[in-house]
Amino acid sequence: MAPKALQPLLPRVRAGLRRLARRRPAARRLMVVAAKELARALDDDVYSSSYFGAGRDPLDRMGLSGYERYDRDTSNANAAAYMVWKNFDVRTTLDVGCATGFVVEGLSELGMDATGTDVSQYAIEHPALGAQGRLVWGDLTDRLPFKTGQFDLVTALETLEHLPPNVVPAALAELRRVTRRYLVCTIPSFGPNEHGPGGWFNVKVRGELQADYEAKGPEYDGPVPYDDLFRDEQGEPIEGHLTIASFRWWTRQFEAAGFVRCGEVERRIHPDLARFGLTKYWNLYVLRTPDAPVPAPALRSPDEVADVERRFSLDTRQPDPEDVRRVEESLPS
Ligand SMILES: C[S@@+](CC[C@H](N)C(=O)[O-])C[C@H]1O[C@@H](n2cnc3c(N)ncnc32)[C@H](O)[C@@H]1O
Repeated sequence: MAPKALQPLLPRVRAGLRRLARRRPAARRLMVVAAKELARALDDDVYSSSYFGAGRDPLDRMGLSGYERYDRDTSNANAAAYMVWKNFDVRTTLDVGCATGFVVEGLSELGMDATGTDVSQYAIEHPALGAQGRLVWGDLTDRLPFKTGQFDLVTALETLEHLPPNVVPAALAELRRVTRRYLVCTIPSFGPNEHGPGGWFNVKVRGELQADYEAKGPEYDGPVPYDDLFRDEQGEPIEGHLTIASFRWWTRQFEAAGFVRCGEVERRIHPDLARFGLTKYWNLYVLRTPDAPVPAPALRSPDEVADVERRFSLDTRQPDPEDVRRVEESLPS
């Protein structure tokens, strides 16, 4: 959207450029090249079209980072929106690292005033249908384009591990700035987890180093040094993951930024993640600001829950018995 003062001029400028392009083939070629180059200049080096699956063979990951296809199903956006709706009594939400906005779309369908932000110009310009007009470009390592305390609840799903360790404290401080009450994150983590199943080193550190890292024992917190991170076929850190650390390390970072971890809410959510086959993929952190109450249990009636599970096709997900066992073992009886 052009700045307000320029908007009255736009139809005339566009009509003039269109006339020029019709009359002069060289001018048309120049405009096409300029438009493509501008889009490239604005896009992010890593999180561009190919990261989100454009031009990929959908059956072959080719050893490259990113998605072979990125959609509401493969991104687990239905489970994410359901998890927020079921467990938090909130109205305004922000999804940081929203990609093309499937979580924003899901939360809007569940009645929330949902917004998304991402550093990828490509993703912001290819919004899911229900996220149109709700995605805003933003870089978490800089100041996000939102007011202090603007959102009841902020999510950062599979996103914080993409930042280098040295910028994590400032990024979490920025998340704290825009969060009024709750922050929900999933971050690939290793080591023991006080409030649910623990994590591991597999596909996080280089294969030949995995046994060495496992031998470090439960006291090791990381972050794993850059040179030891698992690589894709191009030799880059897999999926763009730059901060690989323990649950304990991340918890300390959140606390230093002014959040309080809500273990009891995580314990409520883990059985659902196991039912949806997500325990292996999502290492969960639920946090609140110091003034926010611990979210109450059973916010939604069984009928409402069953209805949303049906609408979001979560009732047909296959639980992995191994996940169910790990969750049961990790929770107090
Ligand atoms: C693995 S994808 C996760 C996307 C989505 N949250 C999901 O769970 O499917 C990581 C996302 O983080 C975004 N991202 C990476 N660095 C970022 C930054 N500094 N600020 C905002 N978004 C960022 C990427 O563009 C990408 O969309």
